[in-house]
Amino acid sequence: MQYKTTCDDTIFSIPYIPYRLREERLYSPFVSMNTKSENIHPFNQLLPRESKEQLLKQHAKVLWFTGLSGSGKSTIAKGVEEELHAKGFFSVVLDGDNVRTGINNNLGFSDEDRKENIRRIAEVAKLFLQNGVIVICCFVSPTQEIRNLAQTIIGENDFVEIFVNTPIEECEKRDVKGLYAKARRGEVKDFTGVNAPFEIPSKPNLEIQTQNKLVEESVTEVVDFVKQLIVFK
Ligand code: ADX
Repeated sequence: MQYKTTCDDTIFSIPYIPYRLREERLYSPFVSMNTKSENIHPFNQLLPRESKEQLLKQHAKVLWFTGLSGSGKSTIAKGVEEELHAKGFFSVVLDGDNVRTGINNNLGFSDEDRKENIRRIAEVAKLFLQNGVIVICCFVSPTQEIRNLAQTIIGENDFVEIFVNTPIEECEKRDVKGLYAKARRGEVKDFTGVNAPFEIPSKPNLEIQTQNKLVEESVTEVVDFVKQLIVFK
């Protein structure tokens, strides 16, 4: 059965999936609930992810960049977004520094706040994911526990962990934001790699070493790796 809709002068043909089937397939992006209120009734009769993916001709994934501040996560992510865009993929970038000036502007860098930061981001990423979008997340996400939390929320099959492995000496040398110098002077509390831990990911899906490499080379490594996961089949 086909569901026809028009947009300007173009006619798209989107496969129609009956509500009954959607429910049978347990399409339920909103039911992992742990709410304060008892009176919340999520509905699950939205268009399914498969229909969105079909429309966008891509498979959605969350590309989760982890690494030290200044390791190159955002720079590489920006390049990946541009490259994917040029190839016809629809993606969105969520970045620590940006998100922390908006939705998460009430959070600092204590363990508890970092966890809440990542929990919210993972939930936002999941909303995009369920709508067929490739989500590129750039967060220090310094501990295994925090990354596990993100993976649990997003789902193991959709969570692609990319470790941007740049040695701290190199990050400090770059010190684009001047934060390492400040942290060494004791002016930044809980700064990752200086006075707060960064745990090396044990089994990332992809590891990118950025030292002595052009940004474009790292971007190509990521795009080559993720292409197989997002190309529409
Ligand atoms: S996370 O640890 O909670 O994942 P997130 O990625 O959102 O961190 O934010 C990290 C960015 O915030 C860094 O790139 C840096 O610019 C800035 N920042 C400010 N204070 C700190 C800090 N104490 N530790 C790490 N990053 C910090």
